[in-house]
Amino acid sequence: VNKENLTLLMVNDYPDYIDPAEWSAALRIRVPRLEFRLWPERGDPADIDIVMIDKGTPPGFFEGMTRLRAVVYLGAGIDGLLLEDLPPGVGVVRLATRELASEVVQYILLRMLYRQRHVADYATQQISRIWRPIAPAKINETDIVILGAGRIGGWAARLFTELGYPTAVWSRHPKEIANVASFSGPSTLKEALAGRDFVVCTLPLTRETRNILNAETFSWMKRGAYLINVGRGAHLDELALVKALDDGQLSGACLDVFSTEPLASSSPLWTHPGVTITPHVASYWVDSGIGQVAELCEQVRSGSAITNLVDLERGY
Ligand SMILES: NC(=O)c1ccc[n+]([C@@H]2O[C@H](COP(=O)([O-])OP(=O)(O)OC[C@H]3O[C@@H](n4cnc5c(N)ncnc54)[C@H](OP(=O)(O)O)[C@@H]3O)[C@@H](O)[C@H]2O)c1
Repeated sequence: VNKENLTLLMVNDYPDYIDPAEWSAALRIRVPRLEFRLWPERGDPADIDIVMIDKGTPPGFFEGMTRLRAVVYLGAGIDGLLLEDLPPGVGVVRLATRELASEVVQYILLRMLYRQRHVADYATQQISRIWRPIAPAKINETDIVILGAGRIGGWAARLFTELGYPTAVWSRHPKEIANVASFSGPSTLKEALAGRDFVVCTLPLTRETRNILNAETFSWMKRGAYLINVGRGAHLDELALVKALDDGQLSGACLDVFSTEPLASSSPLWTHPGVTITPHVASYWVDSGIGQVAELCEQVRSGSAITNLVDLERGY
């Protein structure tokens, strides 16, 4: 490659929290001789080295982009990308910043403590000026399993074990995290889920993990377990969840992601007393990725190896 100018095309579907002007200005400072284009002002497709997207691309979008080396997805999961449309040999890069993972880990901790420390109960009591301590579940008797032990799941597991909670992770490969039980592979999922008070899903959405939170896996969980899903909506069978909550198999669920977003106003999840809904905000800001994209620009310009590539076969 080794060319002087570098052309980056940004597609921005979420102007509320991704400001193209800010990205353009910040990248131009960091990357010399960068031509920044904002879709639909695409210009000559044959110039484009890098495409940056935050949601998806229209059909035929990549046509004529003969020079394209990388597509950056401004999120952690790449399940929104139509891989069939991607020209062969183009790398898909995901954001992998500490800030992004930190926000999701904070969210998991917040929702778990919200429950364990009876935050909603005290808010209700305060309305009626009621002074009534409610015993929280003991730390050493509150078991947590995190599905997925990558940037987000691994960090959450380290944090929970440091706080004293019996903690386990379930991933594809075994993990060595001090004081955290590791389960790996589909055959261990039942054991990983058994007896846990909190089940937290931080998985990427792949062929293997789609619909993994379903009636059968709910039946493997401890009666009264609480579910937190920050992975993707398609991990969860939403109707099976409602049934498991109504049956008392699960005591509640906090959901940040949904099979269809925004969640339809007709969804029974909105009004279910056991369900807490947030509109896909576990991580919010992506500006921390500007530095990572600047590094990518230099990698593409110099023709060196691209980092943070998604393994397209694996799906994450
Ligand atoms: N709600 C939000 O706002 C939000 C924000 C950011 C991310 N997310 C979601 O969180 C996901 C994870 O992000 P991350 O940065 O932690 O990803 P990551 O670092 O790639 O970690 C993914 C983890 O999932 C495990 N895994 C993948 N497929 C599996 C399978 N079939 N069975 C068991 N374990 C499997 C991996 O196992 P190995 O370690 O063995 O490979 C790895 O531990 C993203 O893909 C996205 O869906 C949501």
